[in-house]
Amino acid sequence: MKRFRTYRTDQKTRDQYAEISLSVNDFIYPYFVVDGSNIEQEIISMPGVFRFSIDKLLIDIGQIVSLGIDKVLLFGVVKEYQKDEKGTLAYAPDSLVCRAVSAIKQHYPKVVVFTDVCLCEYTSHGHCGLLHGHEVDNDSTLPLLAEMAYQHALAGADFVAPSAMMDGQVEAIKEKLKAANLSTKILAYSAKYASAFYGPFRDAAASSPAFGDRKSYQMDFRTTNQGLEEIAADIEEGADWTMVKPALPYLDIIAKASNRFPHIPLVTYQVSGEYSMLKAAARMGFLDEKRTFYESLIAIKRAGANYIITYYAKEYAKQWNEQTH
Ligand code: PBG
Repeated sequence: MKRFRTYRTDQKTRDQYAEISLSVNDFIYPYFVVDGSNIEQEIISMPGVFRFSIDKLLIDIGQIVSLGIDKVLLFGVVKEYQKDEKGTLAYAPDSLVCRAVSAIKQHYPKVVVFTDVCLCEYTSHGHCGLLHGHEVDNDSTLPLLAEMAYQHALAGADFVAPSAMMDGQVEAIKEKLKAANLSTKILAYSAKYASAFYGPFRDAAASSPAFGDRKSYQMDFRTTNQGLEEIAADIEEGADWTMVKPALPYLDIIAKASNRFPHIPLVTYQVSGEYSMLKAAARMGFLDEKRTFYESLIAIKRAGANYIITYYAKEYAKQWNEQTH
């Protein structure tokens, strides 16, 4: 008989045998930015997550920096009347996200800034690319995504993160950045599944498609190898980092991706619905939130993620940092 229980006798022993640990450096904290000043709107389905105007965003970033978090991901949220068919505000030189990036870089130069590159938050139809008829047109969308990434890079973004799931988007962006001599890196949302877990995000970012769904460009969740091929293609197109999204329901994809592409940092996104589920269950008293989110983050890292985009980053830093359990 093997005495496995000797690994578990007390906390100190368990800590000695632990193979996985988390650190605030593992996390990328997402922010929703709006125009205006003094705005701090909590998102109903995502308690603890806010839409901030840039002034309030800077204050909040001050807080996370003091907690040790050094990476943020920005989403711009514009008003309905500012949206148009082509998502013009997405790639405007003085766009909301550009202004947010330069403000962050001015106040917190050490914070690593990632920006989401996608049209859905800016198009009147809420799709991630240009429409041709009622279809999302891949190739005419590419120059717009490249322009958006380029503007973010000029504003000072460290990473641009294309999430539109258009074929060739990484290559289009890479070439545009290269031509401008910009060293901004690309975090590709490579294996992004068409997931119902994005529901609360679409409330937060007001980015639900006005008709139909995103299944013609985001991945079918009944597939595995396609996800790995999407990652391989993005690496070939010049992605510096890659991503699997969502996280907890896709641990198998994370594990396979980290095995097959060990040479490239693998990010995963614990998406809005994953966060909302835990929040809701905790509010009902059905789950111990602190222990559940910790276990979820450990599981995601154990599967092979190098970095985790998570709305729990701040709570992790407050409740778990410097502790081992
Ligand atoms: C698209 C984008 C989405 C998310 C990140 N980038 C929404 C979508 O693709 O439908 C979802 C993130 C989350 O659910 O937390 N710009």
